[in-house]
Amino acid sequence: MAGAMPRRICSMVSQAALPRLLRIGGGASGELGAILDSLGLSRPLIVTDDFLLKSGKVEMLIDGLRRSAIEARVFADTVPEPTAASIEAALAFQQEADHDCVVGFGGGSPIDSAKAIAVLAVHGGRCADYKAPHVQDAAGLPIIAIPTTAGTGSEATRFTIVTDETTDEKMLCAGLAYLPVAALVDYELTLTMPPRLTADTGIDALTHGIEAYVSAKANPFSDIFALSAIKAIAPNLRRVWNDPEDRVAREAMMLGSMQAGIAFSNASVALVHGMSRPIGAHFHVPHGLSNAMLLPTVTAFSAPAALARYAQCARAMDIAGADEGEQGAIGRLVDELARINEELEVPSPQAFGIDPERWSALIPVMAEQALASGSPGNNPIVPTAEQIQGLYRQVWNP
Ligand SMILES: [Fe+2]
Repeated sequence: MAGAMPRRICSMVSQAALPRLLRIGGGASGELGAILDSLGLSRPLIVTDDFLLKSGKVEMLIDGLRRSAIEARVFADTVPEPTAASIEAALAFQQEADHDCVVGFGGGSPIDSAKAIAVLAVHGGRCADYKAPHVQDAAGLPIIAIPTTAGTGSEATRFTIVTDETTDEKMLCAGLAYLPVAALVDYELTLTMPPRLTADTGIDALTHGIEAYVSAKANPFSDIFALSAIKAIAPNLRRVWNDPEDRVAREAMMLGSMQAGIAFSNASVALVHGMSRPIGAHFHVPHGLSNAMLLPTVTAFSAPAALARYAQCARAMDIAGADEGEQGAIGRLVDELARINEELEVPSPQAFGIDPERWSALIPVMAEQALASGSPGNNPIVPTAEQIQGLYRQVWNP
């Protein structure tokens, strides 16, 4: 008689990609010259925005480079939620000189702009050619990211988002070409962030951690960063809202934001982000704010299919005990996310001032665009277009 077949070990190979160099801590942005030297780069284009230019922070960066005898050119005309037209203008500027790298300096928008410029500069074409499901792994110009907000995690991700202004579609572009070769993560740059930006970007980072942890593509590598990010962000969101100069909390938020970026770059985001991008594109709601509008409702919708995972998020946030049941922990999680929104003054779409008729009319389009991005496919419950429409109706004024 043949013996029982040994059980086959089912193993899944996880993939991970990270910036080659990281400098983390107060003052890290002052090391840009040394980083460029070590990478053999010497002709950077700094991509930033007008606000940072006027704040004097760009000048500080350039002064630091001069100490390494490196001259930089600056493009400061990026726009919030970058459009294809804004990228083309930046690209024209880039082509006026022989740059060997692009430095993204700012919040998510300048860094995302830098990523798109770096790819188009080498591979040509237009932004729309690169949107998902296209994957751009072949390298563009090297990207160095210096975030000035604690939120997008863009410094550690292989994604960029560009809006097609002719269709109001937020195009997700993915691939290793968008992963910065180096990131300088300097929390001191966030000390002057105004409260609204602090809250929106902070909730974006928390959303990255939660979505990476519940994603169908979550893996043991991404899980470590997701849980660590949630642990760092959750107790400090209110602290940075109440006291912008709380250095300890700012440092934790910056580290958590980068860890959340690593987590979702290697596990993807899910339904919150899928539904958030169309809100941003059609109604010009900042990215973190549209995530926040969705997070409690989408969490309640998705949790039944991933009880253990969401309960673990609640434990990482320190709002549920290790021995508390999953249902109880998830109840606390949904309540806490709603309470964070209340305390950090996150408006509903209605309170934000969105026209109710336009909202209703666009719900079917937004549901289709959410599905087309692919992100809802990673959600614990993969929703139908009708379910997404229902969720948009539910968050209108929860
Ligand atoms: Fe995000």
